[in-house]
Amino acid sequence: MDIAKPHIINLPKYLDQRGNLSFIEEFKQIPFKIERAYWIYDVPGGEHRGGHAYRENEEFIVALSGSFDVEVDDGREKRCFSLKRSYYGLYVPKGVWREMTDFSTNSLALVLASTPYTPEDYIRDYDEFKRYKR
Ligand code: TYD
Repeated sequence: MDIAKPHIINLPKYLDQRGNLSFIEEFKQIPFKIERAYWIYDVPGGEHRGGHAYRENEEFIVALSGSFDVEVDDGREKRCFSLKRSYYGLYVPKGVWREMTDFSTNSLALVLASTPYTPEDYIRDYDEFKRYKR
């Protein structure tokens, strides 16, 4: 697997009549140390989140509930991943423009991040992102 590219990572899945269970451990299922977790919820219909890239931060995004799309762009190739189950997620390396769209009602996006919140790490202008990738 090319770690430099966004890709889906399947998580362990313990199926049980009492309810299923999945988990994530740093450096095991995902290739970074978890410095931060945040979640996105109560997204009104038609809204989108993200629309930026990080210089250093890496992320792993899981749809804990409901569904949404993550559009990623590494400066050369654009792809769209649909996240709709909680037993897999999308790894997004640093230096990737990403936008989250098409949230279903009551969807819950968990994001695990490799760095503390650092506003200076964001690239929020797409033209600046394109220049950065050159
Ligand atoms: P932001 O990442 O800018 O979300 P989006 O790109 O979807 O608009 O986060 C929105 C605000 O939330 C940001 O201005 C500051 C705050 N925030 C934190 O304080 N810590 C965090 O870890 C994150 C992700 C956001």
